[in-house]
Amino acid sequence: MKWVYIEDISIYKDQEVEIRGWVFNKRSSGKVRFLVVRDGTGILQGTIFSTEKDSPLFEKFDVLTQESSLILRGCVREDKRAPGGFELTIKEIEILQLAKDYPITPKSHGIPFLMEHRHLWLRSQKQHAILQIRVELIKAIRDFFDGRGFRLMDTPILTPSACEGTTTLFETEYFDQKAYLSQSGQLYNEATAMAFGKVYCFGPTFRAEKSKTRKHLIEFWMVEPEVAFATLEDMIKLGEDLIISIIERVLDRKKIELDILERDTKPLESIKKPFPCITYDEAIKRLKEKGSKMEWGDDFGAPEETLISELFERPVCITHFPAKIKAFYMQPAPERPDLVLGIDVLASEGYGEIIGGGQRIHDLSLLEEKIKEYNLPREAYEWYFDLRKFGSVPHSGFGLGIERMLAWICKIKHIRETIPFPRLIYKIYP
Ligand code: 4AD
Ligand code: MG
Repeated sequence: MKWVYIEDISIYKDQEVEIRGWVFNKRSSGKVRFLVVRDGTGILQGTIFSTEKDSPLFEKFDVLTQESSLILRGCVREDKRAPGGFELTIKEIEILQLAKDYPITPKSHGIPFLMEHRHLWLRSQKQHAILQIRVELIKAIRDFFDGRGFRLMDTPILTPSACEGTTTLFETEYFDQKAYLSQSGQLYNEATAMAFGKVYCFGPTFRAEKSKTRKHLIEFWMVEPEVAFATLEDMIKLGEDLIISIIERVLDRKKIELDILERDTKPLESIKKPFPCITYDEAIKRLKEKGSKMEWGDDFGAPEETLISELFERPVCITHFPAKIKAFYMQPAPERPDLVLGIDVLASEGYGEIIGGGQRIHDLSLLEEKIKEYNLPREAYEWYFDLRKFGSVPHSGFGLGIERMLAWICKIKHIRETIPFPRLIYKIYP
């Protein structure tokens, strides 16, 4: 008998098949027994009809417990009443392992308990739906960049220098040297962009974030495009196109999962280009009008980001930040050297920053000055200076945080549910 996956079940109408999975649920109704199984790709209802109480199928059904592993053999029937439109008339049950006292029962559990059991929690319907959307989101991103001629360049995870400030660096030993876990692939991307024109890296990044928030992971995934000869304006357009393309793809292909999450998709459907774009100065003005205590020169915190994004129905771009709140590599604005050509994109519905990036310094002496000003060790950046010595060109890029984007698309409160095994402050188990 052919082993098939539940997601393909409609192809096998009226055929005998084998399903390999786990018990999701079971119930009885009169003379019928319903055995609901999941196989990773979907959920299927199996039925056992029999009038003989002592039939071997009934005996097996009776001992089965939640999450026991099994192989079912039977015939696929179309039935409009069954969830998914198909069910399996069970002819054989082969039990592989009986699960005893599965800790996550249909009753509700507290988040600390579920986090402790994250390795099992992944099997629950909502968690499964979120991570299925994650898979689609990542594919959408890769197709977007590959389709536009970007070259995927993997950047190192162990690095000798900081990209995004020294306060969130994870230090480790590298034989007899110090090394840090990468905070961003950007600096290396700048080198590959000079070799390949337009590139992107996509990998895990690490920040020793000391604050406990709903938006911060210690280990998160970021996609970072970098384009030689591109400006801040080019990055705004690229960021818009990327976000819209991800949303369209997920809305198109992940309807069932969004339904499971009870996501109202209207706000996502209405997102169109162009996104509103304001400068940092304007953002401060608007925040003050809304009663915020923020002063010029302060960085946005979560409450400010929420306030700003609530002013618009689409994601909003903020540009021209004070240099002192941004990283060393940011290109100063031509008329206002106290500002830099940085860009943040804030998601709508209060989700805050999802993209950070901008135009990079391409002048050698300016970059050397900045390294000094930010107290960074010059030796670690010699190779980076080379990019400004040998055919330097204006160039720009940005980073999009996968988990922040996913949290917004799924409209879930906390970022910890957007990655299979979240690394959080004070939490590295399981
Ligand atoms: O704004 P960030 O720090 O920018 C950079 O790292 C640049 N070097 C990227 C570039 O220009 N190539 O981070 C970019 C994005 C943020 O907008 C956010 O979506 C995400 O990465 N991010 C985090 N996501 C989860 N947890 C954290 N601790 C994050 N820190 C940043
Ligand atoms: Mg940022």
